[in-house]
Amino acid sequence: MKPEPTSQNMHAFADEERAAIYRTIFSRRDVRGQFLPKAVPDEVLSRIITAAHYAPSVGFMQPWNFLVVRSDEIKRNVHAAFTAAHAEAAEMFEGDKRATYRTLKLEGILESPVGICITCDRERTGPVVVGRTHMKTMDLYSSVCAVQNLWLAARAEGLGVGWVSIFNQAALQEALDIPKGITPIAYLCVGYVSHFYAKPELEAAGWLPRLPIEDVVYFEQWGRRDELQPLIEHLMRDQAIAQAKANASVLQPVTG
Ligand SMILES: Cc1cc2nc3c(=O)[nH]c(=O)nc-3n(C[C@H](O)[C@H](O)[C@H](O)COP(=O)(O)O)c2cc1C
Repeated sequence: MKPEPTSQNMHAFADEERAAIYRTIFSRRDVRGQFLPKAVPDEVLSRIITAAHYAPSVGFMQPWNFLVVRSDEIKRNVHAAFTAAHAEAAEMFEGDKRATYRTLKLEGILESPVGICITCDRERTGPVVVGRTHMKTMDLYSSVCAVQNLWLAARAEGLGVGWVSIFNQAALQEALDIPKGITPIAYLCVGYVSHFYAKPELEAAGWLPRLPIEDVVYFEQWGRRDELQPLIEHLMRDQAIAQAKANASVLQPVTG
């Protein structure tokens, strides 16, 4: 099949629209520590939740709910659940890693003006779901798609989002009064931020590097690499461009 140049593809977005999509993707960050004490207007919140609700879902199940948390008391309960799990988590790392883990900021539950818990109702449309007949986790992945839609829409709105997953699931369910049959997928801290970092904080902290893209692409069957494929050259160049753009998109910190 001969590839069509973008200019001949009537379905492609205009250049500046495509640039906005890629800018959103590459400048999205997981935000933990830069939240500003500034309310998020309902019209903005509405747009990002609507974006999430338009995510793909297996069998069009739409298994998600969006639990909006603004109460300080509920946030404190969620934070207490995090603190307990975080202490347990530290013990799971050895030596230097444990010391470094303890220095990482891994949530912004109390500082962010809004928390949004995205859940998955695995029974929403009954036991047999188109597309979930054999791989049972597809409903969970659908709710994850909703998370990503919200995350990207929020970035375009200038909002930071931080995903917090360091919880004993039962403790999080209790803090948010989520029934047993509903699975919490993500607790998201949402709010305006002083700045977005250019790189993942875990990368900047030396925890892990971003993998070279050419190492994660195989051809035809698992594990088969082929450096002679022209795609590899494109991928390496695009990864370099993506990182350069992310670096260039960093804004100076603002307060208030
Ligand atoms: C499923 C999932 C769970 C995560 N849980 C946490 C978490 O509990 N605390 C945290 O600080 N970041 C969490 N993150 C954010 C990742 O650390 C972050 O996405 C990764 O380091 C890459 O950084 P970036 O999102 O800024 O590109 C989570 C991300 C995902 C996708």
